[in-house]
Amino acid sequence: MSSSLPSEKALVPFVSVENMMRLVHHIGIETMLAELADFIEADFLRWERFDKTPRVASHSREGVIELMPTSDGEIYSFKYVNGHPKNMAQGLQTVTALGLLAEVSTGYPVLLTEMTLLTALRTAATSAMVARRLAPKGARTMAMIGNGAQAEFQALAMKAVCGIDHVRLFDIDPLATAKAARNLAGKGLTVTSCTSSQAATEGAQIITTCTADKQLATILTDNMIGAGVHINAIGGDCPGKTELHRDILKRADTFVEYPPQTRIEGEIQQMDPDYPVTEFWQVLTGQAEGRRDNSQITLFDSVGFAIEDFSALRYVRSKLDATGLYQELDIIADPDDPRDLFGMLQRAK
Ligand SMILES: NC(=O)c1ccc[n+]([C@@H]2O[C@H](COP(=O)([O-])OP(=O)(O)OC[C@H]3O[C@@H](n4cnc5c(N)ncnc54)[C@H](O)[C@@H]3O)[C@@H](O)[C@H]2O)c1
Repeated sequence: MSSSLPSEKALVPFVSVENMMRLVHHIGIETMLAELADFIEADFLRWERFDKTPRVASHSREGVIELMPTSDGEIYSFKYVNGHPKNMAQGLQTVTALGLLAEVSTGYPVLLTEMTLLTALRTAATSAMVARRLAPKGARTMAMIGNGAQAEFQALAMKAVCGIDHVRLFDIDPLATAKAARNLAGKGLTVTSCTSSQAATEGAQIITTCTADKQLATILTDNMIGAGVHINAIGGDCPGKTELHRDILKRADTFVEYPPQTRIEGEIQQMDPDYPVTEFWQVLTGQAEGRRDNSQITLFDSVGFAIEDFSALRYVRSKLDATGLYQELDIIADPDDPRDLFGMLQRAK
């Protein structure tokens, strides 16, 4: 007798928010950030193997909803992600996400997962993976401007991967700074809460901007940027949404993920189309120069690229068997005879 129960082929591993939280604690957040940085670096090293396209963005007055696909020819991935800076006022998050991995050979999904937490982890891991190459040698202090959802992840990744031991916080909302300081207490970092962006940047060798505002903002002005610093600009990631004064871009050497996407979404949308940038993957492969000297200002104009999500999904998949931290979802219709989809429907009668 046929049954309405799903067969094994119908089942896809699903990592819920609860299981993602357990996974992070099981591995340890700093270890996970460092391992994610290595997975992302490994995929950046084989950059040319990937299908690449600027993400598909659907803009509205309130925010943006994006799809971010890529494939290395064997595995395909995409992420659904939104960015809605005004959500917070309604008790909703600015960024939420979910993602999927599939086998290219069959098109069958092999992993579905929450990606709100995973995006914060992968964004921080990417920032640190880049700073490991571009920040001045011996950097110990970072400024963290914008103390919202991403902030603690950024600080801990810079600690785990780059050896940062002091973080200087600033947010226009002191409650956000107090939240970040509370969460970072006892994590092996000296935490200083500051009352302005300018104060936060004092003595910092790495300056991270991670604010959310749907406008051409000026979080950093030229006078705040001393010689030799590394700027990790995270929050300017949409047309019409930037964080740096353009004079900083004139002085900095700018490194990007995927130029066709960054020219639309990054800080460099303020500059001419021929403003020079270096693709960061080429620094890793040795095809391009990274930091030249101690006085150079380096800027990672981060917008978030699909390959980083691919790496994060690949990482989570690699942990499934050993941890069992997933459920199986009945998500692929699986008729006994592949052509008899209608017949399968009758199983549930
Ligand atoms: N580049 C990437 O890969 C990537 C990934 C994830 C998120 N982001 C972007 O990072 C930004 C932050 O994301 P989040 O989830 O932490 O948002 P969030 O809303 O949780 O936090 C943003 C914080 O910025 C603060 N802020 C706004 N304007 C400011 C200003 N002028 N000076 C100082 N602080 C200010 C807000 O008070 C808030 O605390 C968003 O713009 C998001 O789109 C980028």
